[in-house]
Order: sequence, then C-alpha cells, then structure tokens
Amino acid sequence: MATYDLVVIGTGPGGYVCAVRASQLGMKVAVVEKNATLGGTCLNVGCMPSKALLHASEMFEEAGHSFAKMGVSVSSPKLDLPAMMNFKQQGIDGNVKGVEFLMKKNKIDVLKGAGKILGTGKVEVSADGKSQVVETKNIVIATGSDIARLKGIEIDEKRIVSSTGALSLEKVPGRLLVIGAGVIGLELGSVWRRLGSEVMVVEFLDRILPGMDGEIAKQFQRILEKQGFAFKLGSKVTGVEMNSKALLAKIEPASGGAAETIEADVVLVCIGRVPYTDGLGLKETGVALDARGRVQIDSHFATSLKGVYAIGDVVAGPMLAHKAEDEGVAVAEIIAGQAGHVNYDVIPGVVYTTPEVSSVGKTEEELKQAGTAYTVGKFPFTANGRSKVNQTTDGFVKILADAKTDRVLGVHIIGREAGEMIHEACVLMEFGGSAEDLARTCHAHPTRSEAVKEAALAVGKRAIHM
Ligand code: FAD
Ligand code: NAI
Repeated sequence: MATYDLVVIGTGPGGYVCAVRASQLGMKVAVVEKNATLGGTCLNVGCMPSKALLHASEMFEEAGHSFAKMGVSVSSPKLDLPAMMNFKQQGIDGNVKGVEFLMKKNKIDVLKGAGKILGTGKVEVSADGKSQVVETKNIVIATGSDIARLKGIEIDEKRIVSSTGALSLEKVPGRLLVIGAGVIGLELGSVWRRLGSEVMVVEFLDRILPGMDGEIAKQFQRILEKQGFAFKLGSKVTGVEMNSKALLAKIEPASGGAAETIEADVVLVCIGRVPYTDGLGLKETGVALDARGRVQIDSHFATSLKGVYAIGDVVAGPMLAHKAEDEGVAVAEIIAGQAGHVNYDVIPGVVYTTPEVSSVGKTEEELKQAGTAYTVGKFPFTANGRSKVNQTTDGFVKILADAKTDRVLGVHIIGREAGEMIHEACVLMEFGGSAEDLARTCHAHPTRSEAVKEAALAVGKRAIHM
C-alpha cells in the first residue's frame, strides 16, 4: 500500500496547485483524477476553452468591423468553425500537457480514477472496475463544481446546452437564448453573437451581473445592447418545448404573470454552478456540508473529519480559478506547519468580454449597505489619450476610497484590457494603500492604465485630463 504525506482529490486549479506547493515544501504527494485529462473544469471546459473562443471570435469581429477604419483593407472574413474549434482544442491540450509536466517535475504521483474517502488517512481510487487503497497523512478535497440545472429543462448538450455544450457547438445557432445574465451567459453569448447568432438573455433579477458594481453593470448592459444583445430582465424561463424545427421557451415575469413564448435554435442554461461531491464518501465518513451542499471548513480549510481539508469551488466563496489556486497554496502551507492565508477582501473578478469588466474589493452598493462613508473617483476612457488614438473609448475606471482615511476599498473598471489593469489595484489594496498613493505613482504614457491614476486623482477632485 502506497503511503503519502498528502493526497489531493481533483486536479483543477485548486488541486494541482496545492499538490505542487506541497511538493515544494518537501511532502510526498499524489493527486487523484477521475477525468481522462488533468486540469479540471478550468482547463478542459471552463476558463481556457472559453478564453480561446473569446479571442478567436473577437479577431473575427475585428477583421469584419474595425480593420477598414484603420486603413487595413481585407475581404469579408469567412468563418471556419471546425478550425476555430481546433484552435480552442490546441489551447486546451497545451495547458493540460503543462499540468502533466508540472506533476512529473515535482515528482507527484498521478492516480487516475475516482477518489473516495474511506476515513482519516485512507483514500480508495477506482477505475475500470479495479480499486486500490492509498494511505496518507492528509487529504485535500478539490473536487470543484458542476452546472446548476433548471427544473423541467433537460440539458442534452446539443440544442439545450450548458457551458460545456456551448463551447463545442457544431454550427452557429441562428437564435441563441441564454438563461442567466451572469459571467458565462455574457462571455459565451458574446462568442456566438460575434460569430453571427441573434442573442437574447433572460435574467431573473432586474439587472445583469449581480455582485458587480451597479453603475458598471448598467453601462455594460448599454454597450452589450449596442452590440446586438437583447435582454429580458426580471424574467424566468419556465419550460422549453422541442420540435424538429425550433425550441419554444416559455418566459414569465419573475414575480409571475402572463407567459410569452420565444423561439430559439439553441438554449444555453447558465444559472450558476453547484459544489461537486458525488461518490466522495463524505456522508459515510461524517464530513459535514453546509446548507448549500458545500464542504464545510474552518479558517484553516479543515473539514469536520481529522486530517481532511477542502478548497476551491467545493467550498464557500467565489467560484474562481485564482481563488481555488490561492487556497491550494494556503492549505499546503498550513499542512506543512506554516501560516498559509488567503485575503478574501482582495480577489479580483474579470468578465472577458469586449469591453472587459474587472472588479476588486467593495462595490458602491456594499459600502452603502455597510454605512461606510466613501469618496468616489471616476475617469472615462474617452479622456485617455491611448484609448482615443486606438478609438477604443468605451468605459471608465471607478475608485472607491474611505472618506476618512483615503484607503482604497474597491476598484471597478469597464473597458478594453480591464482584466489586466485591475492588478495594480490589487497590489495597492493588499498593502492597504490609499487613493493618494495610487495618484502619486508614476504611470507610463501613453497607456490605458493612466486612467487608473487619473481616477485616483479624481478621488481628491484633481484629475488632470478631465
Ligand atoms: P475544478 O476545476 O472543477 O476541478 C475539479 C476536478 O476534480 C475535476 O477535474 C474533476 O474531474 C475532479 N474530481 C471530482 N470528483 C472527483 C473524485 N471523486 N475523484 C477524482 N477526481 C474528482 N474562473 C476564473 O477564475 N476565470 C475564468 O475565466 C473562468 N471561466 C470559466 C468558464 C466556464 C465556462 C466555467 C464553467 C467556469 C469558469 N471559471 C472561471 C470557473 C473555474 O473554472 C473554477 O472556479 C475552477 O475550475 C475551480 O477549480 P477547482 O480546482 O476548485 O475545481
Ligand atoms: P453566475 O452566478 O455568474 O450567473 C447566473 C445568473 O443566472 C445570475 O445573474 C442569476 O440571477 C441568474 N439566474 C439564476 N436562476 C435563474 C433563472 N431561473 N432564470 C433566469 N436567470 C436566473 O453563474 P454562471 O454564469 O453560470 O457562472 C458560474 C460560475 O462560473 C460563476 O460563479 C463564475 O464565478 C464562474 N465563471 C467565471 C468566469 C470568469 O471569471 N470570467 C467565466 C465563467 C464562469
């Protein structure tokens, strides 16, 4: 029987990063993975394939709409969808190979099969009707999440799809109906709209992107509508009928009322994700779950069973790859006797559309609700030189600072490259920096990041270019 210091169940960004850090700290480590490939949701059916399609479809749209005005004359671009899907697959394969390489480099054993916890220090790994039991001092559950389903709407991954099916459609749907105006709906809706679909998004709430700053979400909605998105807010889909020609979706106001029927060729269900714990043996071994089915942990990622920890999408908190990674590092350090820690106040969120939306820290709504006195500094990209010359002026930067101390409490950006620009705010906030600190930091010219400096200056009502 093999004996380890640590067995990690699941090789998504939480699991594989945890394994690498534990190995760096001198532990003998194994990972258990039931999928054919390593990398979890993120690499196989999540972050990576969606970003490949977002990039390729953006290039397609740019070639058709933006090149001519810059004096680049090309004939009307033609879509070769199989080639685009091949581009996506190459990206997935490259990243999966990268994780395999990291496992070898760090001498981490890869046990292929479904992992089941038998008790403290024992994991059963089963594949192809055979099973083995491995002994280990510690276990980390990093089994991630699965799609949330809508009652009465059967996902077949062909016509009624989850994000997984929407990443692999064989042809561009004429009409795509998206249920849920969250991150997946807006990212994958963008992909298929750029490739030619008419996209309608039905959202239960009266706004898009719940959780993001309201003012940013409003402007984002206006921009998406200009691009061709149609939104039905405050509405719910109560059923989808299939006939040979079309899908007939019944839509009602969220609070109830008369239903209408909308025709579509493909329906994408993206109403959130749920923790994945099937077959893990949690009930049998007494690992407690919370009311939402997530593995319950204390501030050191420890579950209710001795020597068993949990991280990533399967525990509370934002379902984001970088949050899972940071938890993976922290738990490995805690197991090694160090002071592993994740600062949940500084976890950025990015929506990889055009323009991008990024955010870190508190929203204006959260500060109002908490009764915190704050000042706001805003700066539009229309006043940023680099954005002007590139003619990409949609969006603005918004900085929220404590009214008394000037400490930055939240930064929200809508605009091209917002996902890259947010990180200077993360570093600033990690060090407890103020708007004044940011405003006095020299920024290279001409960059879009100068808009962040100007927004910080605007907190003190002294922006230069506005
Ligand atoms: P996962 O990545 O879900 O990995 C869990 C692994 O555990 C899987 O490989 C699974 O097979 C394995 N497993 C489960 N049970 C067992 C078992 N019993 N035995 C063995 N193995 C098991 N996040 C971002 O930060 N940025 C993005 O751009 C982004 N884009 C996304 C796009 C889409 C379409 C989706 C669906 C998600 C996206 N996410 C994104 C979210 C991100 O994918 C997750 O937050 C992240 O993958 C969570 O990592 P994890 O390690 O907790 O779990
Ligand atoms: P989400 O939680 O972002 O959005 C779901 C949306 O569906 C919400 O707006 C919600 O109000 C709405 N909704 C719920 N029930 C509904 C109903 N019955 N009818 C209509 N609308 C309904 O979830 P999503 O988009 O499925 O993404 C899942 C997770 O994946 C997210 O937690 C996100 O963190 C992660 N993800 C992250 C990405 C990124 O970081 N760029 C990209 C894609 C996913």
